[in-house]
Amino acid sequence: MISRRLFIENIIKTLGISAFSAGLIDRLIVNSLTYAQNNDLSLKNRAAAKGLFYGAASFKRVLSYPDFSKTFIEECGILVPEWELKWRALRPTPTSYDFNAFDWLINFTSKNNMKFRGHTLVWHDDLPAWFSNTVNSSNAKKYLQDHILTVMKRHAGKIHSWDVVNEPIAMWDKHPDGLRASSPWYKLLGPEYIEIAFRTASEADPNAMLVLNQNHLEQDKDDGTRSSVLKLLKRLKFTGTPIHALGIESHLGGKDYSFNKSKFKAFLSNVADIGLKIIITELDVMDQYMPKDISLRDKMVANIYEEYLSTALSESAVIGVLTWGLSDRYTWLSKFAPREDKAQVRPLPLDQNLQRKLAWYSIANAFDNTRAR
Ligand code: G3I
Repeated sequence: MISRRLFIENIIKTLGISAFSAGLIDRLIVNSLTYAQNNDLSLKNRAAAKGLFYGAASFKRVLSYPDFSKTFIEECGILVPEWELKWRALRPTPTSYDFNAFDWLINFTSKNNMKFRGHTLVWHDDLPAWFSNTVNSSNAKKYLQDHILTVMKRHAGKIHSWDVVNEPIAMWDKHPDGLRASSPWYKLLGPEYIEIAFRTASEADPNAMLVLNQNHLEQDKDDGTRSSVLKLLKRLKFTGTPIHALGIESHLGGKDYSFNKSKFKAFLSNVADIGLKIIITELDVMDQYMPKDISLRDKMVANIYEEYLSTALSESAVIGVLTWGLSDRYTWLSKFAPREDKAQVRPLPLDQNLQRKLAWYSIANAFDNTRAR
């Protein structure tokens, strides 16, 4: 049975380039992608119908805007703060914490019956200015443990999962195990910082799922990171470290994007075989190098979403999906990966006006077509 997408591609090929006109491509693709049974069902409800969760990253600032907040609540069953729980946001001084945003976001999710993901307790990036001249090899363990215990205990029992350690693998650091040797935490404590972090987190909130979150796991060129992260996860499990899941960031697209379904599926299966769950934690599709034509660009982005997510969700250890933002109105890619033609980037399920795009339908179809957990 020919797939709908293949059927459409064949039509376009036989009709020639003229088929790429915005109108036809929209009708052809939207028809194919919107065969979701019930268009009114939001992404969070489609995910929940299969025993999964869907949500997105956001900020206190934008969740304070009524129009965005209303849409976010409709579509998302879980929130992860894009910035407010990082050291630079939480730690104005070496001896103080600013929990204003954390408390507001926890209140927002509990008021709206939404799960909450903590991101992130230990990262090499976005550390406060005082860090480098305050934390040293003799006090680093105490700073690390005090931070984890204080932050996690603030709302212990209310957090679905925590990204305990973020991006510990970086192949370009040339470490024999692929570890990010340039991380301040690695330099101060050695590779043990990872196990210390997880053991401390388990003590701080025994109810939270403890996650190791990693980027560069999605594409063909990521074999090195994949084998390094598997090696690390096996070692952590072998030493009895309390770790429950791998977060796969899933920032897709970009130059020379290459996705191999069977290789990615094999990687997911290897992670599941270690006894870990998997969360797709920061899904978006960079359109920086795609054509300017919006209908064509949206189709390309939607195809990447559909191919990636249908493959990821075919692994039963995958328990949920978060996009790194909900609407093109607020995406880190506007600054991080702007288009040369200055056109607005379109990486997320909703457009600038909070309207559903083809990407939304791709995600909806991936939830509709996966097995229930
Ligand atoms: O909003 C504050 C403002 O109040 C403050 O005065 C100002 C001081 O510089 O910072 C502003 O916050 C910025 C924040 O984004 C919100 O816009 C921070 O400067 C800026 O560093 C922060 O960038 C975030 C980046 O991580 C670094 O934390 C991006 O939004 C966020 O998308 C990005 O997310 C990372 C994940 O955590 C890990 N995986 C990769 C992903 C993309 O880089």
